[in-house]
Amino acid sequence: MNKQELIRKITEKKEFSQLPEKDVEMAFAQFDKDRYLDEEKIKLTRDLLRKVFSAFTSTKILAHKNFCSTKSKTTPSRRSRGKDFVGQRILKIKEKGSEWILRKHLSTRERLPYYGELYERILKGMAKKVSVIDLGAGINGFSYGYFESLGYDVNYIGVEAIGQFVDLMNYYFKNTKNFSKKNFGATKSKVMPSHDVSKQDFVGKKISGRAIHLSLFELEKIKRIMGKTKKPRVVFLFKAIDSLEMLERDYSKQLLLEITPLADRVVVSFATRSMIKRERFRVKRIWIVTFIKDNFKIIDDFESGGERYVVFSK
Ligand SMILES: C[S@@+](CC[C@H](N)C(=O)[O-])C[C@H]1O[C@@H](n2cnc3c(N)ncnc32)[C@H](O)[C@@H]1O
Repeated sequence: MNKQELIRKITEKKEFSQLPEKDVEMAFAQFDKDRYLDEEKIKLTRDLLRKVFSAFTSTKILAHKNFCSTKSKTTPSRRSRGKDFVGQRILKIKEKGSEWILRKHLSTRERLPYYGELYERILKGMAKKVSVIDLGAGINGFSYGYFESLGYDVNYIGVEAIGQFVDLMNYYFKNTKNFSKKNFGATKSKVMPSHDVSKQDFVGKKISGRAIHLSLFELEKIKRIMGKTKKPRVVFLFKAIDSLEMLERDYSKQLLLEITPLADRVVVSFATRSMIKRERFRVKRIWIVTFIKDNFKIIDDFESGGERYVVFSK
């Protein structure tokens, strides 16, 4: 098979079907070597893509079968599967609240009890009207209600490679008025009860938010997107560094060097213990903290819920 056929085969699997071509090609390039058979190239590329993109995601968000109410003998087309994907999950979110979906992704689930205090701390001292550019957003856009509960008027832009997440977040942003207020986080924050967003009435309010389906390796496009947002700007890069490094070593450094001058504040986070086994990592990503300290001004550096956040500016 030629390269294009192999890539088509790799992305036949639903979980990889809506990834940006750029990322799939970068993963494939690592195994496009004479010593591998075609089947090995396909398997090894899929294994790597799984580590980079879907390792943190509950199968419940991406798996089609969990949301099919009727059993069909025919395989749905890619397009209709895409529509079903959003439609079925939105029904579930409407029924169960946005916290239901935040619990389906390991990163957002871990952060759920701390969102209020987290956003308060990282946005401290900023104007109440602010642009947030969330790089490698996952489904973090569903936490938008926490900004509002703190009195922030946020223009939220989430950049994400998994097309299904992008569709879900965009549907959510556009149709806020159709969601009940419980959808904005019904959990009472044990840490800061004042940030219990279920007390806020968001019904009918329009979210200023947009999710963009794009690879973080498309640096010029990311910079253009950032440049179009109003200042002040805060960039989130939550738990995405490991994924970037798996496809290109030291790319996170290049990314930070290029985007930090365009932002008023950047927040990088990484897990300090295994999300599955709950054990502390022995290696603590010292290299990235050292790099940030050497090149930028640290504003804050703290740990919350198994995640370390480094806040800095140019
Ligand atoms: C561990 S998850 C974290 C999600 C979110 N930032 C959070 O903390 O809730 C990493 C996310 O980065 C996304 N990602 C990884 N590499 C990416 C790339 N090259 N371009 C865009 N998104 C990427 C993955 O799809 C995944 O949703």
